[in-house]
Amino acid sequence: MKLDSMLITGGAGFIGVNFARIIQSREISRVVILDALTYAASGSSLESVLCDKVQFVHGDIRDSTLVARLMDEHEVDCIVHFAAESHVDRSITGPDEFISTNVDGTHCLLKAAKQRWLAGSGSPHRFHHVSTDEVYGTLKADDPPFSEVNQYQPNSPYSASKAASDHLVRAYHHTYGLDTTTSNCSNNYGPFQFPEKLIPLMIVNILHGRKLPIYGDGMQIRDWLYVDDHCRAIESCLDRGKPGEVYNVGGDNERPNIEIVRKICDLIDTRVAEDEDLAVAFPDCLASVGESSLGLLEHVSDRPGHDRRYAIDYRKAANELGYAPLESFESGFAKTVAWYLDNEQWWRSVMDGSYKDWLDANYSKR
Ligand code: NAD
Ligand code: DAU
Repeated sequence: MKLDSMLITGGAGFIGVNFARIIQSREISRVVILDALTYAASGSSLESVLCDKVQFVHGDIRDSTLVARLMDEHEVDCIVHFAAESHVDRSITGPDEFISTNVDGTHCLLKAAKQRWLAGSGSPHRFHHVSTDEVYGTLKADDPPFSEVNQYQPNSPYSASKAASDHLVRAYHHTYGLDTTTSNCSNNYGPFQFPEKLIPLMIVNILHGRKLPIYGDGMQIRDWLYVDDHCRAIESCLDRGKPGEVYNVGGDNERPNIEIVRKICDLIDTRVAEDEDLAVAFPDCLASVGESSLGLLEHVSDRPGHDRRYAIDYRKAANELGYAPLESFESGFAKTVAWYLDNEQWWRSVMDGSYKDWLDANYSKR
């Protein structure tokens, strides 16, 4: 499908920024990134994507006047919707913002899309909604992976809010004829992920010789998906996805958490042992004094309502979109750990929020 002017919501967050980097090389006239710059956003990541074709607007998806104005001003014909509150632990301690952004925010975008694209005789458009495998609930060890026909059984306030937003997208297609696609994917990992999620949190903690909190027995399983594979799948949904359809996207990479954390310890210990500069830069890293970071592992109380296993059956995306993950567990993890070691400035800045000041100085608020 030929689309010319794209609105990316949440484009200063982890997956959004990786998507914006990929989309830069696409034949498209204009890309507008709309992001509220919450704690999870990274202004410094945006530095690598902003150019004549790609603009940034600091604003909220729940601001219906702003969304409508941006759609008109930029003649938006495609929305790729990433913006969300995304961290399960935060949704357990403070669910309100999840309902507001993930449900009301998505609805605000849908209303604006309907208003602009379906008025009169309508115009070609696409609303792509980025969702999660967590809407399907949890799997037992021998259950088949989630397919698109699995029943929705969200277990956390986060997944319940994403499930609600999926249903709204479905309803806007079914009732009003909005041209939508939805992708439900597994756990992403890669560059630019905020260090509250398992992999970057463990990397930063290992480098500082801090304990590595393993929830419960650490045998919960996730299907790890390299972020570029996910972003390519979204592009394929735009190009070849059928209106109203849902596509599951996975990484063929089911691993227990404890294995992931041990792997990160090994990768970092090896790099620090080989590179004296790293040992000097991170004196508290156990590998800097010749010890193994595995000594930092600590089992802590389990997450309330913790889903035991996620796994994705992506045969529909393979058959209809030609999707297949390209990154292996080994290559993806090595790349990711290397990126965090090479980009200390990035994770330090996103953790202390200083780049928000840079953005405020360079981009006015709408
Ligand atoms: P993230 O938390 O890193 O980024 C979310 C972005 O949305 C941030 O830049 C934030 O500032 C922005 N945002 C939040 N509220 C906003 C609002 N009201 N208005 C405008 N912008 C707002 O999240 P992520 O990991 O990049 O996830 C992106 C999307 O993908 C989310 O919808 C998430 O549910 C979904 N998803 C993520 C994963 C994963 O493993 N990270 C897996 C499956 C699905
Ligand atoms: O499955 C897709 C989902 O993956 C996305 O929809 C969410 O936005 C994303 O945050 C992610 O959710 P998880 O809860 O699976 O990711 P998280 O990185 O928080 O945790 C991964 C696993 O590691 C999970 O089983 C909990 C566990 N964990 C996490 C942290 C932060 C720990 O054992 N210790 C920790 O400190």
